[in-house]
Amino acid sequence: MADKSSNQKNRFVVFILATAVVALALYLLLNFEPSLRNYLSAWLTSAAQGSLINIAKLVLWSVLAFLGVRALNTVLFDFVFRIRRGYEAPALVRNIFSMVAFTILFLLIFNRIYTEVNLGALFTTSAIFGVIIGLALQDTLGNFFAGISLHADRPFQVGDVITVGQQKHTGVVESINWRAIKIRTFQNHIALVSNSIAAKEAIEVCPRDNLNARLIYFSTIYTDSPAKTIHVVRESVRDADNVSEKITPIVRIRNLGDSSIEWEIKYWLEDYAKYNDTDALVRQRTWYALRRNGLTFAFPTRTLHLERKVATRPSTAEDEIADRLSAVDVFAPLSAEELRQLATATVGHVFAPGETLIRAGDEGSSMFVVHNGRVQVQVTDRGKARPVAVLSEGNFFGEMALFTGEPRTASVVALEETEVLEIGHAAMKHLFETNPNLAESVSWTIAERRAGLTASAEQAVPDSLAESAGLLVSIKRFFGLR
Ligand code: CMP
Repeated sequence: MADKSSNQKNRFVVFILATAVVALALYLLLNFEPSLRNYLSAWLTSAAQGSLINIAKLVLWSVLAFLGVRALNTVLFDFVFRIRRGYEAPALVRNIFSMVAFTILFLLIFNRIYTEVNLGALFTTSAIFGVIIGLALQDTLGNFFAGISLHADRPFQVGDVITVGQQKHTGVVESINWRAIKIRTFQNHIALVSNSIAAKEAIEVCPRDNLNARLIYFSTIYTDSPAKTIHVVRESVRDADNVSEKITPIVRIRNLGDSSIEWEIKYWLEDYAKYNDTDALVRQRTWYALRRNGLTFAFPTRTLHLERKVATRPSTAEDEIADRLSAVDVFAPLSAEELRQLATATVGHVFAPGETLIRAGDEGSSMFVVHNGRVQVQVTDRGKARPVAVLSEGNFFGEMALFTGEPRTASVVALEETEVLEIGHAAMKHLFETNPNLAESVSWTIAERRAGLTASAEQAVPDSLAESAGLLVSIKRFFGLR
């Protein structure tokens, strides 16, 4: 920005200087013409003096006219046009204005200086040259007039995404000049499509100020429930970055294929120019959502009959989960057998970076242990998300709503790909009944975390000891413990 304004300032200074120099030269020439003739008479005949002075006048007046047209162009298009229309004037219109205005001024100046030359006759006799030039410039003129018609039509503007030409160039329109449309493709290349080609071909326009939609395809196996798939995919896609909140994404079946249900997701973008990234994010979200909810992507299938060998060892995944749970501090009082039971009662979920695992204010009836990855606990402060803590492997969250029955106190968002183990109400109730100490250690953690929430919100820190005792009573009441 600073660069642009200093550039403008420089150009303004150069413009003023150039105008002053030319105006001064003209003033001197007009006022001291007799002395100049006198001076030149030593070398030149009077006719030669006259034509030299006329040429000098023509050049100086033309330069002045040129500077004047530029100034008028800036005033008209940079200020008046932009203020009245609200967008930048197209380069083509500006160029045409400058060319016409300058040609008229030049002819007027020429006519004033060379009064004896009949311009009308000059044009008639040069008609033949006009034809020659016209033929030579056929393509250029074609582009020029196609450019004018594109501007008159205004089918698209700078900043819109368009697809044009036989090679189907897609990209963001950077400029439209008298010869071609300049597009920046998504590989950051420049594609120039000449105006005459663009005028003949179909152009697909995705305007910048329009809610443009995209379609993403995926397939699931026939045993998966369509209603569940619709709900799960829609919810995972709707809060992805750059997906418009104004229209809820649509998830619908587009075909019942040979070996799969074929789906399409239709979603609308805030900024269409970023559709590649957003498409990828939507596909990623879909993958995680399907996986978390036990839904399966389909691929061409064949039925194979395999002979199954008897397993000699129990599944190692369960051991791994039990190990993970044993490292959670509040579960320290549990025996190995209790940990194994708890491990079988947990359900694993994987979340993509940026996905919300828990939303503040929601109802909650389970808690989570971070198995792999990291999450951030956030509260909303004056409309903005404020991080409160980062939890990693072996940490748990979601216990506050589970143990108190109150709404979720904070939102929890995945910082990287994160796998969590969900523990439900029933499994915890069973543990509380067999381990009276557990409720106490959990109430301590909750009291501490509550203190963390209020402390960072710059409020008075409550007394953790008293709070924990109060919590213990309400946890026992909530779970029906004595
Ligand atoms: P819950 O209220 O069920 O949902 C949001 C969770 O964020 C909450 O349970 C806690 O597990 C966690 N949480 C809230 N405050 C903090 C904190 N100060 N430090 C760590 N975790 C917290």
